[in-house]
Amino acid sequence: MRRKQHRFRENEARANVIQEGKELFDTIKGHWRDRYFKNQNDIVLEIGCGRGEYTIGLAQLHPGRNYLGVDIKGDRIWKGSKTAEALQLSNVAFLRTQIQVLERFFASGEVNEIWLTFPDPRPKKSDIKRRMIHPRFIEIYKAILTPGGTVHLKTDNQVFFDYALEVLSAYPGVQNLQCSQNVYQSYLISEELKIKTHYEQLFADQGFTIKYLSFQL
Ligand SMILES: C[S@@+](CC[C@H](N)C(=O)[O-])C[C@H]1O[C@@H](n2cnc3c(N)ncnc32)[C@H](O)[C@@H]1O
Repeated sequence: MRRKQHRFRENEARANVIQEGKELFDTIKGHWRDRYFKNQNDIVLEIGCGRGEYTIGLAQLHPGRNYLGVDIKGDRIWKGSKTAEALQLSNVAFLRTQIQVLERFFASGEVNEIWLTFPDPRPKKSDIKRRMIHPRFIEIYKAILTPGGTVHLKTDNQVFFDYALEVLSAYPGVQNLQCSQNVYQSYLISEELKIKTHYEQLFADQGFTIKYLSFQL
């Protein structure tokens, strides 16, 4: 508990953490480029970023793009933000919020790309609406993505992956749906897809294959 509180206090002082209580939290919508990143580069979100490994890995691969990890857990964001600071990555920031209210922070078309990395699978039928690929979340992604923007999903979970394919096959406006049940054995594999998060490593160690899909909205 003490460690968490120490991390929360550090987040308050970190310039690369945008959270409630900071001025930018209420004024950043539509202004990420001019008020935070101070450039006109693309903006890429990692949804449910946890410790931010994907955000950091992508930002290192593409210094000419801006990366934002979004998660509700401050102690996890703390880790990514500390790493970004240590690596002096000026193209990385973290936003602490619920994904359900992303439209409070991004104007229509402000985001160029979205990554969903190992989202909670929510296997119970009663929890389907909380899956990060449920149509109500796709509506939110569509509202903030630039037209034709890409969404990527990596997961170890077969039920979640099958559900995602079912939703996306029927969702109006989904284009260029590509998928693999085992991305490391797929022609789709790339340097971006080789980045491993904390959860990916845990699941890979247990022998789960990593599933991947992408689509445009
Ligand atoms: C299974 S973890 C995956 C973390 C990281 N992407 C990884 O692969 O290591 C799911 C993450 O999503 C975050 N999360 C779940 N539901 C959320 C919500 N509604 N809003 C914001 N973050 C959420 C959790 O706090 C957690 O860090």
